[in-house]
Amino acid sequence: MVIERDILLEEPPVGAEPLYELLGTCSKHYKIFCILHTAVSVRLFDHLDSLKSADELSEELGIDPELTHILCEVLVTLGLLEKQNRFYRNTEISSIYLKTDSIYSQYEVLRNLQGGFRLWENLTDVLKNGPIKVHEQAFFQDNLIHTLAAEVLSGELQRTVRIVAGFPEFQKAKSLLDLGGGHGLYAIAFTRMNPNLKAYIFDLPGVIKDTETYIKRFAADRVEVITGNLFTDDLGNGYDIIFFSYNPGGKNPDLVPKIHAALNDGGLFISKHAFYRRGEGSKDLLLDVEWNLSAFEGVKKGSKIYSFAGDLSYEDYLQLLERYFSVKRIVEANEFGCTHLSKFGDTLDSKIIIAKKKSCY
Ligand SMILES: C[S@@+](CC[C@H](N)C(=O)[O-])C[C@H]1O[C@@H](n2cnc3c(N)ncnc32)[C@H](O)[C@@H]1O
Repeated sequence: MVIERDILLEEPPVGAEPLYELLGTCSKHYKIFCILHTAVSVRLFDHLDSLKSADELSEELGIDPELTHILCEVLVTLGLLEKQNRFYRNTEISSIYLKTDSIYSQYEVLRNLQGGFRLWENLTDVLKNGPIKVHEQAFFQDNLIHTLAAEVLSGELQRTVRIVAGFPEFQKAKSLLDLGGGHGLYAIAFTRMNPNLKAYIFDLPGVIKDTETYIKRFAADRVEVITGNLFTDDLGNGYDIIFFSYNPGGKNPDLVPKIHAALNDGGLFISKHAFYRRGEGSKDLLLDVEWNLSAFEGVKKGSKIYSFAGDLSYEDYLQLLERYFSVKRIVEANEFGCTHLSKFGDTLDSKIIIAKKKSCY
């Protein structure tokens, strides 16, 4: 005779604690994200350079006073506000990164994370009906360029530029191409490091108009833009340096001779990309899922984050590169990368490869 368990009296055979801990972490962190996103969106931090009560703050922002008080208390526990008696003020990190008018503002990063969550909400649909089709240009155009700009400004840009500036060829260079440059901050920063350098930012036409806003913001008078598709259009020639960072063509064999041809003899090709070794598995499973949520209409993605159809493995790419260039240095991500945000844009184990053009190959 089968004795049925009385589920009302007997606890389950396996405790739910590990599952609840996992769900609790998701629940808590999602809510913290919503608070952060909201606080930045309503410009709460813009109003807290000086001490204010929750009532004063809510009046200035035109938002609910009770809820403002609770939000401020949460932000204190997160170390993003400090409290003196019943008054609140920004901590240093909020002042630098969470005010919308700060040059280091991470508002676009929060927006990008939120957009990512919206995309993730389609996971069931994607599983059943395939990835969401996005036009490549629209994907980059939307807020991606701005979030990448905010992310690299928090350290990767400055570290990368310092590494490149250490090469004597950079100091002598007169002309640089920032291929798929997007925001163009690398090109702009390179011209600051070398007063004789003129830089050209090459990108898709829909993206270039945003590039121009960065050129203007940083008053970069030796930086120009070139619109084009790097796979199908001519890149021009006569460059002393071609800088190529985080692009769909980063591991594509066809671009190596094309870049070689566009460089002057002895010129530098600097490539910053995440490569896959032969037989390498996932670099990050969650990012692989994210990568598969959408498909570009132009260039075809591979199944792992930052991979594209026709990409060479790291070993094969280096072998091809050596036919056209001599590799001078390979820099690992720990020397330039940023803390990961578990989203598209993370450095992962990217490398900077600095290679010098061979005149005959
Ligand atoms: C991930 S972003 C990288 C931006 C910048 N280089 C960086 O490292 O932060 C990729 C850039 O490549 C550009 N891009 C993608 N496909 C391109 C193509 N076919 N031709 C020219 N630019 C392209 C995008 O518009 C975008 O600006």
